[in-house]
Amino acid sequence: MKSLCKTVIRFRDVKIVVEPKSWDFRDSITNQLRTQKFNYVDSGAFSDVYICKKRNLAIKVTNGDPAGIAWMKYCVAHCDENPLLPQIYEIWELPEGYHLTFMETLKTYRGDSDELCAFENIIGTYRDRLRGRKNASATNNAFFTAKADKGLNPNAVKVAKAIAKILNKMGHANLDLHDGNVMWRGKQLVVTDPICAW
Ligand SMILES: Nc1ncnc2c1ncn2[C@@H]1O[C@H](COP(=O)(O)OP(=O)(O)O)[C@@H](O)[C@H]1O
Ligand SMILES: [Mg+2]
Repeated sequence: MKSLCKTVIRFRDVKIVVEPKSWDFRDSITNQLRTQKFNYVDSGAFSDVYICKKRNLAIKVTNGDPAGIAWMKYCVAHCDENPLLPQIYEIWELPEGYHLTFMETLKTYRGDSDELCAFENIIGTYRDRLRGRKNASATNNAFFTAKADKGLNPNAVKVAKAIAKILNKMGHANLDLHDGNVMWRGKQLVVTDPICAW
């Protein structure tokens, strides 16, 4: 994670000038991204996302959402070894609670909602285990065992454990898995934004 003492952010051939005083982040960043051939693609509760297909680069402008930022930091550290994680290259901390994230471009998720339900159940199981409530989630454990019998993807287990850890560690954070918070790289499920700060 880069901290912001400098005034120019550079990533590959992208350059964004930050002027902390009298700085309107959204307008200024938007204008600079547009002139560098990034197009607005979508927003969630905390972020606006811009992409440049030619560069296979997405830039996410986030305001607030400490839990989402914690997830993206996990991704920076582990994305090279786990295809379920988005490739996140750099996260820059800006003034006034903003962050700028450089990541790969991904496509809208068109998969099965059962896949997300399965994921939620696995995460629930690990949350319970972390809390020491081993017997409290018979349903989840049964689901988990059934899935494990079918050969649960070990990378999915790693992701579920990581999400459970962050959720249990952070106050005011909730699981927020839906088809706007997972995406596709080809037909690979990618877990982009599983946790939110409320
Ligand atoms: N890497 C990406 N490539 C293309 N679109 C993206 C990417 N990341 C997010 N998006 C789009 O932007 C939306 C908002 O992103 P998200 O990570 O969910 O932010 P928020 O924190 O606002 O919920 C997503 O629902 C998705 O449509
Ligand atoms: Mg989201």
